[in-house]
Amino acid sequence: MVPIILSGGSGSRLWPLSRSLFPKQFLPLIGETTMLQATLARLDGITSCLQPLIVCNEAHRFIVAEQLRQANVAASAILLEPVARNTAPAIAVAALRILQGGDDPLLLVLAADHAIADVEAFHEVVLLAQQAAETGALVTFGIMPTAPETGYGYIEKGRNSEWEIRNEVLMGTYPVSRFVEKPDLATAVDYVASGRYLWNSGMFMFRASVLIDELTKFSPEIVAACRAALDGASADLDFLRLDATAFAQSPEDSIDYAVMEKTDKAVVVPLSAGWSDVGSWDALWEVSEKNVDGNVLKGDVLAVESQNSYLHSANGRLVAAVGVADLVVVDTDDAVMVAHKGHVQQVKKIVDRLKAEG
Ligand code: GDD
Ligand code: MG
Repeated sequence: MVPIILSGGSGSRLWPLSRSLFPKQFLPLIGETTMLQATLARLDGITSCLQPLIVCNEAHRFIVAEQLRQANVAASAILLEPVARNTAPAIAVAALRILQGGDDPLLLVLAADHAIADVEAFHEVVLLAQQAAETGALVTFGIMPTAPETGYGYIEKGRNSEWEIRNEVLMGTYPVSRFVEKPDLATAVDYVASGRYLWNSGMFMFRASVLIDELTKFSPEIVAACRAALDGASADLDFLRLDATAFAQSPEDSIDYAVMEKTDKAVVVPLSAGWSDVGSWDALWEVSEKNVDGNVLKGDVLAVESQNSYLHSANGRLVAAVGVADLVVVDTDDAVMVAHKGHVQQVKKIVDRLKAEG
């Protein structure tokens, strides 16, 4: 099994710490190591794991190489995207590259910027996913929803019997009756209330050829552009630089819209391991270690009579808070951000404004 690490996100909701030239997957947001390094370390102990393949933006190549070196991990390849085309092309180039080598292994697709508290539980579910993927399924890892989040994909668990008819019984895996990427709020509320839906974690397992066959069925243009981008690729140190013109021809689409919503080969394995995509300051507060007042204090920070806040000094300057609750304060060299925990999804709006103003 080959881990494919998607490392191309921009993490704009974690501004001002996460920047386009240094996004969140490369930051030590939880614990000592960076999110990318933690993702790689989480694979230790999965016996069938081969060397990982990393897919990232060209601009981040030296950061990735340096973080791999620090973590003592040798990648089988680092594929460089000249432009971001979202996850369907990123996964497609990885799968095609591996198939070019003559092998057709299972691929474990992971985001470089997720947190998983219970690594043992994750390993168990990976083994289960492996067995399901070996039967030709596209496996997703499903999370029990806790709120009607609209930024996630929703997976309706089918009854086992449908799957059992076509395959041997594989306890703990369910056929996907429906996959809906980012539903509107009313739909998400219904889904959560029904108890039949799981969130899509954005991690997947499938055989390389199965993914390419399904993607060819639904989005042949993506596969064609990715093939051409690999044909024109040039090796550069440890990197494989995709052909810029060819890759730019690929439609921009996520694996969720391009394949998972459409395929009838999807299977879900429920994962209960303290997963988080650390998509916002609020989510980072959730997964971080807190003091008795519920505060997460990072760097030189002093909090008096304050609760449930995330206070982070990233530049050596003292950040002091008195009598506040549910705040996020992040101080960096060139920007200070103060936000209410209930509004942190809108941090992206600041980033958009800054981009628009140049
Ligand atoms: N290499 C590469 N290239 N990686 C990418 C690209 C790209 O163009 N775009 C995104 N990624 C990486 C991101 O770094 C992230 O780790 C992961 O792929 C998912 O991308 P997001 O942009 O964060 O996706 P999302 O949050 O909108 O939705 C996905 O994740 C949710 C769970 O966090 C979907 O899979 C949803 O269904 C899912 O619920
Ligand atoms: Mg995300």
